[in-house]
Amino acid sequence: MTTLQDLPEIDFTAPDYVAAPLPTLAGFAERFKLGRSQRGIEIFDYDLCRDTILNRSFGTGHPRLMHLLGLPEGPALSYKRRSISFHNRGETRRRLRVPLTKLMGPEGSERFRTDIRRVVRETFAEIPTDEPVDLLTELCDRIPSRVYCYWVGAPMQDAEFVSHASHTVQQVHTRDPSTTHSVTQSFEDLLDYVDTRVAAARANMGDTLLADLIRATDAGHLSADELRNWVVKLAEANTDNSSHQIGIAVIELASRPEVWRTLGQDPKLVPQALREVMRYHPRSLSTSRETLEDVEMDGLTIPKATPVFPNIGAAHWNPNYFPEPDRFDIHRPDKPAHLNFGGGIFSCIGRFAVTIEIEEVIAYMVTQFPDLRLIRTGFSHSPMFTSVTELDAVLAG
Ligand code: HEM
Repeated sequence: MTTLQDLPEIDFTAPDYVAAPLPTLAGFAERFKLGRSQRGIEIFDYDLCRDTILNRSFGTGHPRLMHLLGLPEGPALSYKRRSISFHNRGETRRRLRVPLTKLMGPEGSERFRTDIRRVVRETFAEIPTDEPVDLLTELCDRIPSRVYCYWVGAPMQDAEFVSHASHTVQQVHTRDPSTTHSVTQSFEDLLDYVDTRVAAARANMGDTLLADLIRATDAGHLSADELRNWVVKLAEANTDNSSHQIGIAVIELASRPEVWRTLGQDPKLVPQALREVMRYHPRSLSTSRETLEDVEMDGLTIPKATPVFPNIGAAHWNPNYFPEPDRFDIHRPDKPAHLNFGGGIFSCIGRFAVTIEIEEVIAYMVTQFPDLRLIRTGFSHSPMFTSVTELDAVLAG
């Protein structure tokens, strides 16, 4: 019988993790299926990660997160409590997801492609091509926040607010109470913003995702409060994750000139190249769960109410599943699938739409800017996320 104390401890602040997080995780994954850290149990094995993500003995870790942060009573906490994140498996979670999984599933998302392509073109048209530019602000933040504006029928000028709000509220995942004040304020601003957008859309129903959600509400599939919570959630979960993943893709692909050239010559390879980017350097280094009962895992009894983290980075760099994990190979088989978007009843609602966004950005860049030159790039890695800290480049080389 394994006890908690028998598990190897991973310190996310240790110099080896900070310097080389994915190889460090690979080292753990090669030797151990489970580990522990300050935040809870870490799962390093790919199959165990996948099972935990899908297994019904594990529920959402969000309520504990809010408790850790000490979010005060008020509109932000009240929104959080009623949003999808606080619901465990069951009828309410299933019912709440149905309209979104229809509208943003593979086919639903595909109908956004032409407009996403237009947003990508218009955004690049504003970026100088012959001088160093900060692609984090000029490109990575703008694409997802402008796509959100398109979904809710808002003027494109609102994108900056949307992007700033998403970056701020996503700080909940730092588990750092010093962020609580700004997170709370930003949620309140987003709630007010969404109320304005819903009212505007009701006054002038067009052919937007928001109008479709309003129609689903009027047909009785969501309450007015649930509609509002979804429109906030789509902003909350969107720009921050998508912006960093776009940046990661640009850096990983453009820093390999032969790959960049190959994609430019054959853009049909872009989707599989992006699958490898999300395997090799995922935005999501872990997702979170909490045990709903005592659970047996690999000889360890995990008591009820324990925070558990399927460590996606470790799973993706586990040589038992991904041979030579440090080799970036756009021709890797598509199975096992990457876990960047989690899975099952908790899976990322935006995964198809954001994949289209990144495909369109990269397909545009490899064909229009074959000589793109990276000037300065940087990453930081928390236990939860990969973030891009710098991305300066000259588009026309
Ligand atoms: C590359 C960008 C993105 C990444 C890496 C990402 C990743 C994730 C992950 C790991 C989860 C948790 C899944 C789980 O625990 O099983 C999640 C949940 C979620 N994501 Fe994303 N996401 C991205 C973009 C988006 C976008 C663009 C949207 C919406 C427009 C979105 C909406 C959501 C929502 C609503 C949830 C909560 C689902 C639920 O609790 O049922 N995400 N995402």
